[in-house]
Amino acid sequence: MMSDDPVAEVSRAQDEALASIAAASTPEQLAQARVSSIGQKAPLSQIKKSMGSLSAEERKTLGRAVQEALAAVEEALAARAAVLEAGVEAERLALDRVDVTLPGRGGALGHPHPISVMLERITDVFLAMGYRVAEGPEVETDFYNFEALNMPPDHPARSLWDTLYIAGASTLLRTHTSPVQIRAMQKQPPPIYVIAPGRTFRRDAFDASHSPMFHQVEGLAVDRGITFADLKGTLDAFAHEVFGGRLTTRFRPSYFPFTEPSAEMDVSCPNCEGAGCATCKRSGWIELLGCGMVHPNVLRAGGYDPEEVSGFAFGMGVERIAMRAFGITDMRQLFDNDVRFLARFAG
Ligand code: PHE
Repeated sequence: MMSDDPVAEVSRAQDEALASIAAASTPEQLAQARVSSIGQKAPLSQIKKSMGSLSAEERKTLGRAVQEALAAVEEALAARAAVLEAGVEAERLALDRVDVTLPGRGGALGHPHPISVMLERITDVFLAMGYRVAEGPEVETDFYNFEALNMPPDHPARSLWDTLYIAGASTLLRTHTSPVQIRAMQKQPPPIYVIAPGRTFRRDAFDASHSPMFHQVEGLAVDRGITFADLKGTLDAFAHEVFGGRLTTRFRPSYFPFTEPSAEMDVSCPNCEGAGCATCKRSGWIELLGCGMVHPNVLRAGGYDPEEVSGFAFGMGVERIAMRAFGITDMRQLFDNDVRFLARFAG
């Protein structure tokens, strides 16, 4: 039903609509105000719909009033929308603000494990001498771990390594990195100068000086006319690089099935310089590695001709060297992953 004064009603509806638009303080509230002021059920829309029953004259007057009111409301809606959008944008910008002059929040940086530090140090010395790094699998076959290294089945020397076998007698966890000697020779003709750093495994108790998993660095040099003098010179230079200038080295005869002759190399204790201390068990010397001239049978297993070439090989335990170099007394500390201990080796 049309009221007595529809033009006054239009102006009231317009005022109400403008008030609700002005009161909207979020885009959501403005959307509601839009529905209530110009939606289908809004008073202005209702008035417009009911104009059909009016006389032409009345319709003209009221029609203009409604058009003007709607135009004013639309304009207010658009203006308010612009204001609110700007506000939302400003708020977003304020929240996103980054003060680039503040000091950064750095995460705690880790550092390499002492074993990794020592592995890298040893590797670097040999890389500088022209060696390259060779690799082999940790799960090995009996052939590479023993047989090709001059230890046929039932050879008593196999008992030097307490072996962890996998799936029968032919697959095992390598007890040393020496199988990489064979694999490397099979891959390329002489001359060869390689080192093989990596993990090795033995059925050992876990105590202060043993671990069932430990690291070795193997070395192999085969060329024409290589002699024991080359072995001594190379390993002596290596020891000086890793432990410092003042030490002396000595070679003691030893036995390995894959080298002949074989030796153990000791270095004078870097701690007491040979005088005798707790680190070297009062002997003045520290056992560093096993080495020797590559056995002819090993050269043959690698596809080399022992009449043509000769070479030397060596193998060292990285945990022991790291313990000596860093003054660590219990090997288990290297595997406990206690960050309070490991933090001592930062930087
Ligand atoms: N593979 C020997 C070991 O683990 C070390 C070694 C390597 C000795 C090469 C001589 C030559 O005990």
